[in-house]
Amino acid sequence: MERPLVVSALENQVKARPVPRHVGIIMDGNGRWAESRGLDRLEGHREGSSSVREVTRTARRVGIQALTLYAFSSQNWARPAEEVAGLMDLLRDYLERERAEILDNGIRLNAVGDVGRLPRFVREPLDRLIADSAHNTGMVLSLALSYGGREEILHAASRMAEAISRGELLAGRVEEADFESFLWTNGLPPLDLVVRTSGEQRVSNFLLWQMAYAELCFTDALWPDFRTDEFLRCVSQYQQRERRFGLTSAQVKREDTPQRAKA
Ligand code: IPE
Ligand code: IPE
Ligand code: MG
Repeated sequence: MERPLVVSALENQVKARPVPRHVGIIMDGNGRWAESRGLDRLEGHREGSSSVREVTRTARRVGIQALTLYAFSSQNWARPAEEVAGLMDLLRDYLERERAEILDNGIRLNAVGDVGRLPRFVREPLDRLIADSAHNTGMVLSLALSYGGREEILHAASRMAEAISRGELLAGRVEEADFESFLWTNGLPPLDLVVRTSGEQRVSNFLLWQMAYAELCFTDALWPDFRTDEFLRCVSQYQQRERRFGLTSAQVKREDTPQRAKA
């Protein structure tokens, strides 16, 4: 049953300040959530999809432009075959179940990763929803599937080398923006905030290039327990940070003034 939406004081507080444009989440801890209850790991993944729905809705409500969820890494293919198969089934179920929600809420679905490795029964509903939501402008929800940051950088480097050999780009004159155009995340805003759940403090090959100046939020909550309030707490932490991009605090404050006045 849907819970009635009561907008919390925390949500209003978050909405009153600039929100990150692009948030990435390493959704970790499903297995431990299930195992601590004597359940099969897949039950944790299943419960985790409720967190996906709730966090997506909240992100949309507070005005985040892009949300990228790390759902399955390049390295996760090496997990036991039954777990991989179960995750693929859940992914298909998610795409079928959330289709209406995504389309009705103006969300554009996107995928980043080596999606060619996914089974047909996942790729088909994925491609369909990506195509059918392509005109939506509300929020871009990117699923990182069969995704690895090093894999992405290598893939981009090799595509860029091809472009250079075709004479479309000059070797030695390559700029950051040129390289970025070959990444799977091409077109997304810069990554402002990365959240990792489950108490682990590592990035596990997620958006390595894009993370260069992102703020990090680590939380002990396991992904199935990570819901609206936990998410808003991370956004609120982000809002209290000073992003210096190599400058001094005094410089940032000076540079900030005209921008604030403009906003
Ligand atoms: C994250 O949960 C989901 C995926 C990696 C697919 P885990 O399955 O890694 O959960 P833990 O880390 O074993 O608890
Ligand atoms: C990272 O979680 C990948 C996803 C959340 C999809 P893992 O559970 O695979 O990461 P490690 O193995 O603990 O670093
Ligand atoms: Mg894990």
